Amino acid sequence: MVNMKQTPPSYSTHPTHPDMNPVIFDPALQSFINELPKAELHVHIEGTLEPTMLLDLAQRNSVHTEYRNTEQLQQAYRFGNLQDFLDIYYTGTGVLCCEQDFYELTRAYLQKARQQNILHTEIMFDPQTHCARGLAFSTVISGIHRACEEARGKFGISSHLILCFLRHLDEQSAFATLEAAADYRPWITAIGLDSSEQGNPPEKFRSVFAEATKQGYHKVAHAGEEGPAAYIWQALQLLQVDRIDHGNRALDDPKLITTLRDRQIPLTLCPLSNLQLKNIAHLHQHPLRSMLEQGLLVTVNSDDPAYFGGYLSRNLLAVATAQQLDREQILTLAKNSFTASFLDEPTKKRYLDHLQQYANNTSLNTP
Ligand code: HPA
Ligand code: ZN
Repeated sequence: MVNMKQTPPSYSTHPTHPDMNPVIFDPALQSFINELPKAELHVHIEGTLEPTMLLDLAQRNSVHTEYRNTEQLQQAYRFGNLQDFLDIYYTGTGVLCCEQDFYELTRAYLQKARQQNILHTEIMFDPQTHCARGLAFSTVISGIHRACEEARGKFGISSHLILCFLRHLDEQSAFATLEAAADYRPWITAIGLDSSEQGNPPEKFRSVFAEATKQGYHKVAHAGEEGPAAYIWQALQLLQVDRIDHGNRALDDPKLITTLRDRQIPLTLCPLSNLQLKNIAHLHQHPLRSMLEQGLLVTVNSDDPAYFGGYLSRNLLAVATAQQLDREQILTLAKNSFTASFLDEPTKKRYLDHLQQYANNTSLNTP
C-alpha cells in the first residue's frame, strides 16, 4: 500500500552527503518506479563520473587531484549555482585520458541504467572539454560508442549520442567541433548546447545550429535552467530545437506555455539537479507537477547523477513523493520519455507497448 499522504521528506541537503537527513521512501512506490520501463533523455556522461571512479582514474593516469578520498569529494559537491558546479565538473573530467576511460565511464552508467529498467538512453557528451586538454575527438567518441554497442548487445539497451557545444566558448569553436564530428556522423543523433547559461544566449549559436540542420542532426539546447524564458524562445525560434533541456523558466511566460503545449515540445526536467544547484529550495517548488497539469510534454532525467545525488529512478521517486504524483502521472512521465525520444516510430511503438503491458499488470495505490 502506498501512503502518499504523509508529510513528504525533506531534500534540503545532498542525498549522498554523510550528513543528509535519512529519507524513507515508500517501498511499493520505489519498486513501481524502478521496474517502470523508461528512457533517459538528459544525462551528461561526464556527470556520471562517481567519486570512486574519479579517484581510481586519477591514480591510474597519474593525474593530480586535491581530493584524497570520496568523503572529501562529496564535501566539495555543495553548489550555490550552476557555475559552482561546472567548475568542479570540468576539473573532474581531467582524469579521463584515453579511450578505455570513456568506455568504462559509459559502461558503468549503462549498467546502472539496466538496474533501473531504462530501455533507451540519449547520452550527452562535451568533446570541447576533452579536446582542449589535447585528446582527439576519436578517443572520446570511440570509448563512449563502444560501451553503448556492448550494452545494446548484452542488455538490449538502445543509446543515442548528443554532442553538446559549450556555450561559454565562441561559435567558431563549435563549428570546429561540428567539423571534427563529420567522420562519426552515423554515431551522433543530435547536437546540444550546455554549460554556463547566463550571458550566453542561444542566439550566439544560430549559424552553427543552422549548419547542423543542413547536416540532418536533431537539435536540443539547455534553456531556462538559470536563464530567462526569452532564452527558451530563442532556442525554439533561432535554433529550431526539437526539445528543450530543463526549461523550468517557461512557467514565467504564459504565451510560451501555450506554444510548448500546442507544439508538444518536450522538456527534459532534472529535479535533483535543480535542487542541488539552488534553482529551487525544495522539490515541492519544482515546476514539474504544474507543467504536467498544463499538458506540457515533460520528462524526468538525472542530468549529472554522480554530482546531484541520484540516477533517474531516484529523481522520479523523489519528485513523485514530494509532489504527491499519482500512478497515472508517473506512467505519463514514462510514456513521455519514449514519445520525446529520437527513436524511429516503430521502435517507439514497441517500447510504448511494453510500457502499456507493465501498466496493465502492475498495481500501485496512490492518492
Ligand atoms: N547545465 C548546463 N550545462 C551542463 C550541465 C547542466 O546542468 N551539466 C553538465 N553541463
Ligand atoms: Zn544538463
